Amino acid sequence: MKYKALSKEAVSRIKAEFPKYPDLRSLTLPALRIAQEEIGYVSEAAMIDIAEVLELTPIQVYDVATFYSQYNMKPVGKYLLQVCKTLSCSLVGAISIVEHLQKTLGIGIGETTEDGYFTLKVVECLAACGSAPMMQINNRYYEQLTPEKVDKILNDLKQHGESDLATGPFMLPILQGQ
Ligand code: FES
Repeated sequence: MKYKALSKEAVSRIKAEFPKYPDLRSLTLPALRIAQEEIGYVSEAAMIDIAEVLELTPIQVYDVATFYSQYNMKPVGKYLLQVCKTLSCSLVGAISIVEHLQKTLGIGIGETTEDGYFTLKVVECLAACGSAPMMQINNRYYEQLTPEKVDKILNDLKQHGESDLATGPFMLPILQGQ
């Protein structure tokens, strides 16, 4: 069968997960992760493909995809900045970090810079409350942020594709499928 958005490899990866789950519906999260890894976001066509593979309706897949903030429902920039706005981070300056990013990048929340480098999102707790305020960029954490650190991170990523201010990879097993 030919799928609209997913490659044969992506479909094979999803099917390889079948034995690990009690039923096909339980595979919705890993299937969405695989689709996002391949396409960069979860497109409508990808959700239809996932529904086909998992024998679900597209609306069942859509409901899950739109419930979790880690799924991008539209294309994002090369670097997805996700700033935590939950209590511990808010108490120590998350809002001013968001405002600083908006001003520096010239974009609002949910928007992408014109050069396609950065997309800004605010999200709920990312389980690094002890080193607030923090943000996740792609699969790395950046903690105890200040406006100066944010400037260096943005510059490092644009110039070198990485920053030594990263404090570790994001490795929540349920989301990584491991
Ligand atoms: S409140 Fe920000 S990481 Fe938990």
